[in-house]
Amino acid sequence: MTSCPAVDGRRLNAARRLRFEHPSLRFPADPTTVRCMTSPTEFTADDAAYMARALRLAERGLYSTDPNPRVGCVIVRGGRIVGEGWHRKAGESHAEVEALREAGGEARGATAYVSLEPCCHHGKTPPCTEALIQAGVVRVVAAMQDPNPRVAGAGLKRLAEAGVATDCGLLEGTAENLNLGFCRRMRTGRPLVRSKLAMSLDGRTALLSGESRWITGPDARRDAHRLRARSSAIVTGIETVLADDPELTARLTEAPGAIVQPVRVVLDSKLRLPATARLVRNPGRAVALTTVDGASHNPAMLEVHTLPAAADGRLDLAAVIDWLGRSEFNEVLVEAGPTLNGALLRGGWVDEWIVYLAPLVLGDKARGLFHLPELTRMADRFELALKDLRPVGKDLKLTFGKP
Ligand SMILES: NC(=O)c1ccc[n+]([C@@H]2O[C@H](COP(=O)([O-])OP(=O)(O)OC[C@H]3O[C@@H](n4cnc5c(N)ncnc54)[C@H](OP(=O)(O)O)[C@@H]3O)[C@@H](O)[C@H]2O)c1
Ligand SMILES: [Zn+2]
Repeated sequence: MTSCPAVDGRRLNAARRLRFEHPSLRFPADPTTVRCMTSPTEFTADDAAYMARALRLAERGLYSTDPNPRVGCVIVRGGRIVGEGWHRKAGESHAEVEALREAGGEARGATAYVSLEPCCHHGKTPPCTEALIQAGVVRVVAAMQDPNPRVAGAGLKRLAEAGVATDCGLLEGTAENLNLGFCRRMRTGRPLVRSKLAMSLDGRTALLSGESRWITGPDARRDAHRLRARSSAIVTGIETVLADDPELTARLTEAPGAIVQPVRVVLDSKLRLPATARLVRNPGRAVALTTVDGASHNPAMLEVHTLPAAADGRLDLAAVIDWLGRSEFNEVLVEAGPTLNGALLRGGWVDEWIVYLAPLVLGDKARGLFHLPELTRMADRFELALKDLRPVGKDLKLTFGKP
């Protein structure tokens, strides 16, 4: 547990005051997830309700804030919401600035609830800490510390130094879940990696011929488009491109805001990607990662990056994941066949396996989920942990993580 930069004495006073105002309803900070609390401050029911609102606002940026986190802000004065905002798009205003704009003069003496610690550095926009201080906000409640090393507690510290009461750690688990990929990348330099697979009841993902459309029903396919929309990049293997010619775009009718389309990334060691492939021809950014000299093999003027090869001559997956992190991708969705998925499973590169299970049987001649060398001992098996299970239309959605 790292310590919160806020001033302890002030925190205790704030906690006492809040207890006095709301004797019956208290929300202890979640002890399993809190990172920025030095002592378990208690929050009131009103605090929790305003933070829940800030988190719902943040969610509106689910499909559009890349590479930035999704952040929401609510400004409250005298028990009334006077301003709300959320971050929509990189380069545009941060949530706090949006909310302050709506609050105008009413921000003076108000409390700001923010789903992520306010920034204190000059990025594409000026620091939010200064905007909050200048507007006369007297208390800032953050759901979590910003894992960005350029902030990491310094935003709350700056506010506390300017005399603003600061509290941190309210609904932190929810806030972290909303930005899992961003938090991962800030802490490790690598993105959160999900792989999505559609399989029959007998664990088959395509016929022997390669045909795989469609295994799942329309509801599961719509759900998969939501996964695409929240992802920074979609990664596939060249064999899937050659077999299916997928578009790999997020197509949703019910998106809450604009969708920033994910970047399409093809793992293509020998650069066989045809210029006629739909993911190359369609608008938007498409990238081929390869081990050969990109320039001399690149008639389509596609964006090509040459990365190191592994011992088997294929792309080194560690280098691929590092490249994805360096490219500022927070959440990466793999949509590939058994060859790439087998390699990712063996290397332990996937954080979340999302498997749509369709109630149909394709027979044991059809292709499986993972190409792996034959296992001769059960001790060598790969184990996953079931994290979630729910019906999606006629199919089942299973989410697995690391045990
Ligand atoms: N049911 C589903 O959810 C689903 C989803 C997607 C695809 N599919 C089906 O899957 C089939 C294609 O599967 P596939 O297994 O042949 O191909 P794949 O996994 O999509 O692509 C494999 C290719 O990726 C390239 N690659 C580059 N670096 C690699 C690495 N380190 N490890 C592994 N591969 C690497 C390799 O080609 P190079 O050596 O040339 O680079 C390899 O042959 C299609 O029939 C498609 O319809 C099903
Ligand atoms: Zn900011």
